[in-house]
Formats: sequence, structure tokens, C-alpha cells
Amino acid sequence: MSNTNNDQYQDDILETQSPSFTIQQVKEIVNKLYGLTGSLFPLSSERDQNFRISTQHGGQFVIKIANSAEDPAIIDMQNKALEHIAKVDPELPVPEVLLSRNGLAIEQIQVEGGTEHNIRILTYLHGAAPRDDPTEHALLRPMGACLGRLALALRSFFHPKANYELLWDLKHTSKLRQYLPHISDANHRELAGYFLDRFDRNVLPLIPKLRAQIVHNDLVPDNILVAERDPGHIVGIIDFGDMTHTALINDLATTIAPMLRGHTDPVAAAVEIVAGYQEVIPLESAELRVLYDLIAARLIMLNVIAAWRVTIHPNNKEYIVGGVDETWNSLDVWRAQDPADVTKKIFRACGLWEMHEVNSMQREDNETLQSHLSRRARLLGPHAYLFYDRPLHIVRGEGVWLYDDEGNRYLDAYNNVAHVGHCHPHVVNAIAKQSRRLNTSARYMHGYILELAERITKRMPEPLSVCMFVCTGSEANELAWQMSKAVSGNSGALITKFTYHGSSAATTQFSTETISEEKLPPHVQTIFAPTSDTTFRKPDSGLSSAIMALDEHGHQLAMLILDTAFVSDGIYTSPKGYLNQLYENTHAAGGLCVADEVQGGFGRLGQHFWGFEFDDAIPDIVTLGKPMGNGHPLAAVVTRPEIADILANEMEYFNTFGGNPVSCAAGLAVLEVIEKEALQQNALEVGQYLRERLEVLRMDYPVIGEVHGSGLLQGIDIIKPDGAPDPEMADRIMNHMRENGVLIGTTGQNYATLKIRPPIVFQKEHAEIFFAALIKAINELLGLQSASGKA
Ligand SMILES: Cc1ncc(COP(=O)(O)O)c(C=O)c1O
Repeated sequence: MSNTNNDQYQDDILETQSPSFTIQQVKEIVNKLYGLTGSLFPLSSERDQNFRISTQHGGQFVIKIANSAEDPAIIDMQNKALEHIAKVDPELPVPEVLLSRNGLAIEQIQVEGGTEHNIRILTYLHGAAPRDDPTEHALLRPMGACLGRLALALRSFFHPKANYELLWDLKHTSKLRQYLPHISDANHRELAGYFLDRFDRNVLPLIPKLRAQIVHNDLVPDNILVAERDPGHIVGIIDFGDMTHTALINDLATTIAPMLRGHTDPVAAAVEIVAGYQEVIPLESAELRVLYDLIAARLIMLNVIAAWRVTIHPNNKEYIVGGVDETWNSLDVWRAQDPADVTKKIFRACGLWEMHEVNSMQREDNETLQSHLSRRARLLGPHAYLFYDRPLHIVRGEGVWLYDDEGNRYLDAYNNVAHVGHCHPHVVNAIAKQSRRLNTSARYMHGYILELAERITKRMPEPLSVCMFVCTGSEANELAWQMSKAVSGNSGALITKFTYHGSSAATTQFSTETISEEKLPPHVQTIFAPTSDTTFRKPDSGLSSAIMALDEHGHQLAMLILDTAFVSDGIYTSPKGYLNQLYENTHAAGGLCVADEVQGGFGRLGQHFWGFEFDDAIPDIVTLGKPMGNGHPLAAVVTRPEIADILANEMEYFNTFGGNPVSCAAGLAVLEVIEKEALQQNALEVGQYLRERLEVLRMDYPVIGEVHGSGLLQGIDIIKPDGAPDPEMADRIMNHMRENGVLIGTTGQNYATLKIRPPIVFQKEHAEIFFAALIKAINELLGLQSASGKA
């Protein structure tokens, strides 16, 4: 259709008189065409003629007789849209189209003079009109959410007629200028001109860049029904008469504008509607930036079109000018707002940064390394230790890749917290979606916490069936300690020689990586980890003598806690029989066995989902953390029901953030990714590949000692020619690899073991990049030639 024709169309439809059939005529028509008889009640309409019919059988329908200028193809588009919505989102309360006796969705009828009209019948939706009360708050957010759902349902809808030109479409706002002379009040004309100028300047050039689709384009309180006793529950969406293809954000501005009328704080009301919409469809910055002017444009549109149409349809004046004065008032109030401030509030509601905040972040990015480091030391104190001789300023992550502030890319072979890959979209979306909806404490009922507890405990052996959620591994181990003391009635703990279990007061004392063994308090004694160093190994790894040492200090055994991946000890898994024997002896001494899966859990070890499964032993308590939320602080304690009961009798336990809906959404998403992407299997296969290649490499490079660990958690000992651990060389290799774009760490009692612990989406191709950097580091640091071309 040419532009001229389109203009013709839009003018016609708004200018042509509404149909004016008598009730008797309509009764006869619907009886003949649809076989419906009953009482008719006229309904109001801008340009059509509508009736409600109540049939003798109790059925209720809406009869819609279209304006003679209405193109049947557009009515067809509306009918098809209703069908589409019912298919895509059946719970959206939209009417259904009733077919005529001829099986048609649209029938033609004629008035006496011969003018043709299209008629159709829709099911009547029950519900109340929303309260006409400007202070009504209950409807704001649901209105936004409902519009979002409607737009989402229409996202994939297409109709060849969808690009027809309708003056009620905000992208045509500039065309309103021609009707300004119909506004009699000079102040109002000036106000309209002011906002039209703003539209032309701020919105018009951006419209072609905005997301567009077919939208309802008139979801306003007049076109919805709400539940009788619940003003915020929308039970009916009617009047698809203004549906068109336009910018998505126009649809939202159209809904917001009339809802601001009479509001004491229209900005807050607008923000509330935006927030509801954002819960369903995340908005883009470009859309939010034009919203202030689009809302004003819609308010102007309401009054300019009303002023023009009242001159053509003086009989329908009451319908046309209803609300005009309030709309002018809204425009006055809207103009009094600072547009930048309104936009800032809208951005906030959507969780996006405003421009000036982004700029301040950029300023920080431009700091010199030295000024950043001194600012850091001043603000964060001496404990804010950084990795690598040349610390990294990472600004972005994706999968196994990290990017620094200069755009350099690093292969991440170190970070286990980003378990399923940095910023995994499924996890990010789950967090964002739930953050937009609700975040509270576990003191309220919520489905996610139960689902997550179920999914975790399903992966544990019986009888580990109770899950308590916390935020960090330290808290989980602290809670395990409290449980162990409560159940055993004892006060002694056993740990391995060089381990880490947390940073709280109690768990620091279980962390020989933080305080040296000699400084441990008397209630904590050590045993041997299953390292390769057999010189110190005792038959029961030193457990009996450690229990005796506890006894000498007046403590009986309450807890044996083991990191099941023995990461700080150098990265090992339990050899067959190791855990079994320790657990048996611990139980015999009255203590509880805690499996700390903060490092080894969630499939990283490849062969098993949990580290304790390397033996047949079943722990009393399992603690989880780090990878559980892929970077979101989420941790848990899993235990037997009777242990949880004993703790509950002893004390009340509450954790403000533990198990909140956002954290649980993250936890569920992580488990889904592990399963859907078969990441445990990936850890197994790529881990085996790493291991095989490393064993071969050892033959050429004597600096590489033993390799130990499992799956995607591997320790590579760096040794001197005499076989002694070489921490300096390990450190130099780590820093050399960092300079060459591969991130690893060091671990073990001497820090002479390279720690390879990447996100478990790490592939063989990434392993190749890792090997190339490792070989280059060794060659260059030892002044060697590349060994037989293997580099
Ligand atoms: C085995 C183990 N347990 C517990 C923790 C403590 O976890 P968080 O740092 O989340 O408190 C860590 C942290 O590195 C750990 O490696």
C-alpha cells in the first residue's frame, strides 16, 4: 500500500461515523448469521458499534460491527492474533472468535443505504472494570507485566497487513502537528508543540533502530477487566483494534501514559509499570532512553486526536473528550519533571547503569596500574592480595576466557568458581530473571529452595537427605562443626596437614594454609593427606595418634573434616580404603565425618560427582560451596535428618541470604547446565587427556615431577634436578604463563605444585593452548631448546 493510501486509510477510519444499526436490526442479523438470540446491550466504542448479547442459554458474547472504513484484512489480523495468543500463552485472558453458521470469522452486513460493514462475534470476558481511582497502585505493576506477556506472546506473530498506518501508532507522532490548530487553548497548543519538538529531536531519529513487532498498542485500563475482589489481577484483555507493527517500547509508553492521570507521583507510577514489564521482557538502554518523550507523545496524541475528532463527530463528544482535562494536567506535571532524572529512575528500575555511572567506571578503567594499586591498598587494606607479579584487571569473562581492561584474552585454567564457564548465559539469565521478580529470605515459602534441595540430595547417598543453605564454604563448614559438636558432645577436630576450610573464627583454626600447624589450638590436630609422599604415612594416616593428642589436651573427637580433593595438600583424590578406614575409626572414637566438597564437588573430578565417592564411605555431613552458584554466593550443608534435628534442639539457625530465591535460581541453573552439557563427562575426558599428555611431557622435561588429581583438577609437581620441590620455578612458570595468556595457580605445602582447575567447560583445544604455554614457559625459563618440536 502506498503512503498516500495509508494516509487515506487512517483519516477515513477516524473520520467516518460509527455504524448506527438499531438493536432490532442487530438482533435479526445475529440470529440469521450466528443462530444467536437473546438480549442486547450497547457497549461504547471509539469508531465501531459494539453490543453485548446474553443468550437464553446463559452464553454471553460481544458483537462487533466495524466502521465501514475498516479494512477486513485488519479485522482478520486481529482475529488471527487472538488465535495466536491462545496458542502461545493460553493463560492470557483474551476473547475467542465465534464462527458464523457459514463457518466464517468475519461476515459482511449492509445498512439500508448499501454501506457494507464487517461483523464478528467474540466471547464475552467476565470481570470488573478497573477502579477509576488515580491513587490505585495495585494495578501498575500487573499492567506492565501483562503488557510484557502480551508482547511476548505476539513476538512471533505475523500478518501481511501489519504495517498499515494508524495515527494511534506513536511512530507517527510528528503527524499530529497538522491537527494542532484544533486545540483552542493557546497554552495547551504550546505544551503540545513543546513535546512534539522534543519527539522530533530525541525520538524520531532513533525509531528505525528500536526493536519492533506487532503489539496490542492500546492496553489501557479501559481495555482490561480485573477480578472483582482483586484490583491487581487482570482477568480480561479486550479491544485489539489498534494493533499494529511498531517499536516495542511504543506499546509500553501507550500503556503508561493514561495511567499517570491524576497520580500524585506520576514518575513513581511509570517506574512501577516499567518494572512489571521488565520482569517479562528485559528492556534495552536505547528503549529506556526514549521512554520519557514517548509517554509525553502519547499524552499529546490522546488530546490532539480528541480535539480534531470532536470537530468531526460532535455527537460522540462525551466519549471523545472524556479525560482530556486530566491529560493536560498530566502533561503539565510531566513537563515539570527533569527528563534526565525520570530516565535515571527508569534505568534504575531496570537494573541498568545510567550514563554518568558508566562514565565513572570508565574513569576507573583509565587509571594507571600504580594509582589503582595504591587506591586499593588504602581502601581495602593489606589483606587485599592479588594474583601474579603483574596483577590483572579483568573486566569481562565468557566460558573459559577472561578479558583484561586492555582487551587481552586469557585462557582461564584456574577458576573453579565459574564452574560451568564464566557468565554462562543460562545461569546469568536465571539470576537476572529471579532478581527482577523477587528476592527474600528463606523465612518465606518458595518452590526453588525445595527444588534445589531435592536435586542436590538426589545426588547424595541415603541417608543424606536434609539440606541447609548458607552463602559461603566457610559458613557451611562452621555449621558442620556446630552439628558435629552438638551430636557428639565432644570438642576436638581433625584436619589434614596442609588444608583450607574457611575464614570464620572456627574454620580458620581448621586451615593450616592460614595458620601454621604449630600454631593450631590444642583442640585441632592433624593427620596425613593421601599424598604421594609415603615417608610420613602411618597405617591409619596418623588418625590414632592425633586422637591421642586431642585426648592429652582434654578433647574427645567431634569431627574429622577432609577436603575431598585435597587441593591445598597438593591435589589428590582418596585412594581406595583411605576414607573408609578414617571414617570407621572416627565413628569408633565418637566423632562425625565431614566431606568438604567445596573444591571437589559438582562433577569436576570426572569419575564421580562428589569427591567422597572415590571410596565407599558415606560421610555424616557434606559441605558445598564455590561452584554451586557459578560465582553467585551459594553454599550448603547436607546431612542426615537426625543430625539436623539434634542441631535444631540445641539452637536456632538462621542465615539471612542462605537459600534465597535468586541464589537457588542460580544453583538450579548450574545443575541444569552440568546435566544438559554433560560436563561431568567432559571433565572426565578432558581430564584424562590432560593427564596422558602430561605423563608424556614428563619424559622430556625433568622439571615436571608427579602429576596427581582427577578430572579437571590436576596438580603438577615442579621439582629440582634432585627431585626436591621447586616453589620458585613453579611461581616463575605460573607468572610466565600469565604473560602468555594462560592463567593457572600453585598449591601444596611448598607451593611447588601447579594448580590446574579450569571451568569444566574446558575442552581439548584449550588443553593444547595450555600445553603450548607450559612448554614455552619451561623452555624459556630453563633456557632449553624446544624439545623435539613438541612446543
Ligand atoms: C576446601 C574448601 N573449603 C572451604 C572453603 C571456604 O569457602 P569460602 O571461601 O566460600 O568461605 C574453601 C575456599 O577456598 C575451600 O577451598
